[in-house]
Amino acid sequence: MLDKKIALVTGANRGIGKEVAKELAELGWQVIATARDQSKATKVANDIGNGAVGFPLDVTDEASVKLAASFLQENFTRLDVLINNAGVIGNHAVVDFALDEISSVMDANFMGPIRTAKYFMPMLRKSPDARIINISSGMGELASLESGGYGAYRLSKSSLNAFTILLAAELRGTAVKVMSMCPGWVKTDMGGAGATRSVEKGAETAVWLATAAGVKTGKFYRDKNIISW
Ligand SMILES: NC(=O)c1ccc[n+]([C@@H]2O[C@H](COP(=O)([O-])OP(=O)(O)OC[C@H]3O[C@@H](n4cnc5c(N)ncnc54)[C@H](OP(=O)(O)O)[C@@H]3O)[C@@H](O)[C@H]2O)c1
Repeated sequence: MLDKKIALVTGANRGIGKEVAKELAELGWQVIATARDQSKATKVANDIGNGAVGFPLDVTDEASVKLAASFLQENFTRLDVLINNAGVIGNHAVVDFALDEISSVMDANFMGPIRTAKYFMPMLRKSPDARIINISSGMGELASLESGGYGAYRLSKSSLNAFTILLAAELRGTAVKVMSMCPGWVKTDMGGAGATRSVEKGAETAVWLATAAGVKTGKFYRDKNIISW
């Protein structure tokens, strides 16, 4: 029998990531709660309790991702679930061509999950049931692009969804599944106080994708249902 399931969550120091990390730890999982700031990683691991470990990880910094991968390799036998939650928003419309904003949002929301998938893949491949859960957004749904606005953010999440489809296809036949999900509009620093969902509701589908049997690789989920890209 396998020992505790092992999950690593990016951007776990607040919002949806913190809630997902907390709930998995409560379910008896070994959680590695990461934050780009070492002190925030340590604090969140203490807040979560249940044996959670904090580790610094900035998904825009390749050296930082490599260091986290080495930490995993030295301290754990495998990684069962990677939750690519870390994200940033940008407010400009694409027609503003705010190049710095587009680059920085793409770097965190699109390149970040590619970096973590790359460097954590050897440990994910050691799991008999590995899952990469990309926290995307309904704002990246192709049909929603017709609304315009939030150019950098929408581009980053549509691109993240494309990465999910491609990586899942290339990993078919292995034990590694890759899913995207939308948490809905959630009351966090990013979602704002006017959002309609609690962090618990926002975390629900991520926890389900991490734990449930029969989830389908290469799909986009909201509220535990497959939605269109
Ligand atoms: N809230 C919503 O309504 C909503 C809707 C759809 C999708 N989402 C997605 O859900 C995810 C979580 O969002 P949230 O609402 O919980 O946002 P949040 O409260 O703003 O939290 C974002 C988290 O990402 C971290 N982060 C940002 N850049 C990072 C980097 N380079 N490396 C590591 N961590 C980084 C932040 O760390 P710091 O504290 O260091 O900044 C923070 O922990 C995001 O991917 C977001 O796009 C949210």
